Amino acid sequence: MAVYALWNNKGGVGKSYLTFQIASEYARTHPNQNILVIDLCPQANSSSMILGGIEEGEKSIEHLSGTTPPSTISGYISDRIISPYVDTHTGANYITQARSLNNAVPSNLYLVCGDEELEMQAARIQLACSAGPTNSWQIVHTWIRNLIEDVKKSWNQQDITVFIDCNPSFTVYTELAISSADRLIIPFSADGSSKRAVRSVLSLVYGVIRRPGQVQSQFFRNTQQFRMALPQIYSYVGNRLTQMNSSSATAFRSVVLEIFSEVFRVYQSNPGLFAIHPNGSPAPTNRNTFRSMFEEEINDANTASVVSGALGIPICFLTSGSKKFAGKSCQVNQSQLDKQQPNIRDFVSRIE
Ligand SMILES: Nc1ncnc2c1ncn2[C@@H]1O[C@H](COP(=O)(O)OP(=O)(O)O)[C@@H](O)[C@H]1O
Ligand SMILES: [Mg+2]
Repeated sequence: MAVYALWNNKGGVGKSYLTFQIASEYARTHPNQNILVIDLCPQANSSSMILGGIEEGEKSIEHLSGTTPPSTISGYISDRIISPYVDTHTGANYITQARSLNNAVPSNLYLVCGDEELEMQAARIQLACSAGPTNSWQIVHTWIRNLIEDVKKSWNQQDITVFIDCNPSFTVYTELAISSADRLIIPFSADGSSKRAVRSVLSLVYGVIRRPGQVQSQFFRNTQQFRMALPQIYSYVGNRLTQMNSSSATAFRSVVLEIFSEVFRVYQSNPGLFAIHPNGSPAPTNRNTFRSMFEEEINDANTASVVSGALGIPICFLTSGSKKFAGKSCQVNQSQLDKQQPNIRDFVSRIE
């Protein structure tokens, strides 16, 4: 039971898709717990899926962002822009029970909906980081933690699990997401730029430098200055590695291997940055045990994943057959479901 951020410094790697799938499956397998998704990406892709997909979900986002104040992340951020350094305790006002808008998701799944307005608010968040007391940066970087505390209090539950979907770029609201998370899940895809993006994660968040004399990221330096905890790396997830034809399999394996080497090098010099799991397990001592603890893989589910996202039906709840959306019908085959459902179930069973 922790706060997980899904982030990689690259778009299209599956952050939003996996947030939707993982949070839904986690909610299904933990019926006695409330699960919260915080969508800190202005694109609001995970919100769209959680709220019912390209038709219903999009309509619901319009509705939630159109109320006064907006019932979205931007509503909360507005409160904090007005009162940056004094906690407003208003976080619980901005959550939506996803089931009230999408009956395909479990009733214990809650959402702080994404909002495109977040992009507009970024400059004011940035200003608040330097405008007030000497520790303004630190206070602003605990806004999302404050929000989570508000929600816990309103539910009268201390042990809740939170998943935060992030924007690819390391803007101020991504910094807020990262600094409120206990654990980091890093999805990546099979292309060459994924490796650079994972390297960026390591340098931007953890101050890993590649050349002597290189300057560490300002974010890392600020977290050190204010003695703030960083999220521990929970896993790096090869997503859709097999989306192209199998002749590329060797190329995929080499990308995975390169990313493993980058992450393993960090583990060897700073094992404290990693979340050993399951709880009580011995720390990995070699490449194999490290990979089996931290490396995950999620297959491509082709049409099934498109239907899952478009209709807002979590893949683990989706059945085979003909499905209708956007005026078209689309066939989901059992073989596609069999490719991804076990991956998602296994991965979620390893999330504590
Ligand atoms: N495992 C998967 N199988 C099939 N499609 C996927 C998978 N993961 C992601 N996708 C699709 O890939 C696209 C990019 O994923 P998305 O989650 O939006 O990336 P990000 O949030 O990192 O930018 C989306 O259309 C999504 O539905
Ligand atoms: Mg996204």
